[in-house]
Amino acid sequence: MNAAIRSVVRKALFEGLEVRGIMRGYAGLIDGKIIEMDSRSVSNILGRGGTILKTARSKEFMTREGQEKAAKVIRDNGIDGLIIIGGNGSFQGAHELHKSWNINNIGIPGTIDNDVGYTDYTVGAHTAVHTVLEAVDKIRDTVTSMERIYVVEVMGREEPYIAVRTGLACGAEEVLYPGSKVTVDEIAGEVKEAEKKGKRSWIIIVSEGYCGAHELSEKIREKTGHEVRGITLGHIQRGGSPLATDRVLASVMGAFAVTALIEGNSDATVGIKGYKLQLIPYEKACFERDKDRKLDEEYYSLTKLLAT
Ligand code: F6P
Repeated sequence: MNAAIRSVVRKALFEGLEVRGIMRGYAGLIDGKIIEMDSRSVSNILGRGGTILKTARSKEFMTREGQEKAAKVIRDNGIDGLIIIGGNGSFQGAHELHKSWNINNIGIPGTIDNDVGYTDYTVGAHTAVHTVLEAVDKIRDTVTSMERIYVVEVMGREEPYIAVRTGLACGAEEVLYPGSKVTVDEIAGEVKEAEKKGKRSWIIIVSEGYCGAHELSEKIREKTGHEVRGITLGHIQRGGSPLATDRVLASVMGAFAVTALIEGNSDATVGIKGYKLQLIPYEKACFERDKDRKLDEEYYSLTKLLAT
């Protein structure tokens, strides 16, 4: 997100605009927490995780009264347009700001879940997958040495992206994600079959949208009699220095968002398809799912084929 902020600020200044930053997302907007931003405000932030503007989940902004307050703050501060970095929830709010309060705004998809429609990637998704991968590589040392089964729970809400990509990248023996049809009985059967071939350790990736690591490890322990440990990776997936892919994506999307706003666009987020940046109406990005479920299944099948 910091790479996106840097890009938006510097591109807007280059275009001769004045730039303000809103602290703590919609909550800060309602409270009028607005700061001046110049080129130096965004120095040396490209490699930092999180967001220098901070963020919050605002219940008040979900109400009409909250949105009305936010719209008033925007008008009182002479703000002509907003660039909103966030995911599904942020964009639904942004859509309301446009539709009900006539506030011009453009989004930049920033979420590890990669759950925004009509964009191949969201800012942060690559880095989150890499962070999980590094963690699982370390966990595997114990898994192999102590001949155990480990169930590792990853984030991603209802989107299989993080689970399926990390499963393939870390050589997981099994991956469970929202929409998976695999049962615990099948997993137990596979473990027993693989044991006959000399296999002694297993990494099972489970997406939070499927079930929790501890619940699943308990069930597998009951069925297999093996020692099974559950690990929830949690918020390490949302931090750390972003990969080059995410810095590049955030930088190009930030500049594109500024141009789109200057050209009079609103009510849409930036997205990327292939290598092409484009605008996607919020309603499509939030409520239509174009993600290729077949690709998830293909990646899953390949993960299974390779983990023999
Ligand atoms: O949307 C990003 C995300 O990290 C999800 O993957 C996860 O379900 C959620 O946010 C966790 O939110 P919080 O930090 O509010 O618990």
